[in-house]
Amino acid sequence: MGIAVRPLGDAVGAEISGVDIARLGDDDFAAVERAWHTHSMILLRGQTLGGDDLLAFSRRFGELDPPPNQERGRISPPGYPEIYVVSNVLDKNGDPIGALGAGEAVWHTDMSYLDTPPDASMLYALEIPPEGGDTWFCGMQAACEALPADLARRLEGRRIKHDGTYNSGGYLRKGVTPTDDPMAAPGAWHPAILRHPANGRATLYFGRRRNSYVEGLSRADSDALLEDLWAHVTQPQFVYRHVWRVGDLVMWDNRSTMHRRDPFDGAARRIMHRTQIKGGAKPVAFAA
Ligand code: OGA
Ligand code: MN
Repeated sequence: MGIAVRPLGDAVGAEISGVDIARLGDDDFAAVERAWHTHSMILLRGQTLGGDDLLAFSRRFGELDPPPNQERGRISPPGYPEIYVVSNVLDKNGDPIGALGAGEAVWHTDMSYLDTPPDASMLYALEIPPEGGDTWFCGMQAACEALPADLARRLEGRRIKHDGTYNSGGYLRKGVTPTDDPMAAPGAWHPAILRHPANGRATLYFGRRRNSYVEGLSRADSDALLEDLWAHVTQPQFVYRHVWRVGDLVMWDNRSTMHRRDPFDGAARRIMHRTQIKGGAKPVAFAA
């Protein structure tokens, strides 16, 4: 069976079929990597991966980053500190085995509150609720190309402060002081429009909406601009909705996509394992 790549939408995503990640030759890996560079998000269904398989596949893309600090710190499966668990399931003491609960996770890109965020993240689906918990992806290169001229002018040359206080589930990160002031919040400054290091294309880079701030503007003007920008990038033509099946492996580019998750019934079980590929370089402005 040969490898095949089928786009999932106009702006972001492709499904790759004919691939068994646990026994992937170098030529097929090169095709997977090319599809990832072209489509910013890839889906491989029907995989059967142990922790070692997931780590081995992840490492083919580069060095790994440790998991993010979440509401209960960093939670990993025993013996796998580089794997991060996203789950609402409780252990025998009644504590969650992972992060993000069963609620909505708002639009974001991973760990952009760091100076050098991870280039990519991947999620492998171990248990999936019967409904809900879909993950949505937004193509920030297509959104950038379609940016209305007045928004482009208002954003030109500016940087954005990315907040490190709250995660996408709205939870306070462990040990961080709560604040609604972007200037007081921990985080990182990044150019609002990046040059993608692999394909040279311009991409919008927003991180999270909460506590976000556009450099050089009043808070009110920054908020007004951010509202217009977020309304633009989250339009349906830039978005793909992923309905999960057990065995799905999804990998996304954190520079050129954002993602969010629908809530699901907290009585149902959802278990995902995630890895994150360390950033090769700090984000660079498109114009620079
Ligand atoms: C993540 C994330 C959403 C989901 O792991 O980075 O945002 O669908 N997960 O679990
Ligand atoms: Mn995320």
